[in-house]
Amino acid sequence: MRVKVLRQLSPFTEPYWEEFLYDGPGDNTVAGLIDYLNYHDDIVDINGKKTTRIGWECSCLQGVCGGCAMVVNDMPRLACETFLRDLKGEELTIRPLRKFPVIHDLVVDRSVIHQNLMKSDIFIGAYQPSDGADHEHQYSVAKCLKCGLCLEVCPNYVNGDSFFGAIFANDCYLVSARNSEKRKEITELYHSHFGNSCSKSLSCMDVCPMKIETIASIAKMNRQRG
Ligand code: SF4
Ligand code: FES
Repeated sequence: MRVKVLRQLSPFTEPYWEEFLYDGPGDNTVAGLIDYLNYHDDIVDINGKKTTRIGWECSCLQGVCGGCAMVVNDMPRLACETFLRDLKGEELTIRPLRKFPVIHDLVVDRSVIHQNLMKSDIFIGAYQPSDGADHEHQYSVAKCLKCGLCLEVCPNYVNGDSFFGAIFANDCYLVSARNSEKRKEITELYHSHFGNSCSKSLSCMDVCPMKIETIASIAKMNRQRG
């Protein structure tokens, strides 16, 4: 299998495509494929030219850390959850997420997500027991990996913008449901910030690895008043 990887050696250098030949097992994941290519000390490109290991990020290899988020065959996916057998074609293209600054090859800087959550004060804070209402959706939303795959396909998210799509809507819902002291403030923030910016393409839901029903968070927040 031919594998094209968009590489960038540092934040200050230009990206370029490099091709590799993958002759490993067919039941591998994309994460396993990158690992396989990187395994050799004498890693070479498809023409036999010596090159460097492909930079990428992972922690869990089981779809829970979000570190391996990247774009595979033009679809944002978690590399460790994407099996080669499910991809069509003889060629694979892999590139980093486009909405974040590249640090090295497939490693991007997603710190803007957490900075924005902190700046807007969108976090639960002191523990408050759930009142049991809507527990299922709260639990589902709390599974967000902050992987950023949803931002890749969000037509309204521009790099670094303080509007950050599904993550913003879901976390506003979660915090306002779990923290009565912050409810009014977060609800106002949601209406002034998200309500005017989201055009409801809902492509975020198509790519979310945790299958979060962002539309439900939006509906609940739209009904809620501070
Ligand atoms: S909403 Fe889904 S796609 Fe977006 S950051 Fe959370 S887990 Fe990732
Ligand atoms: S390595 Fe953790 S989600 Fe893929």
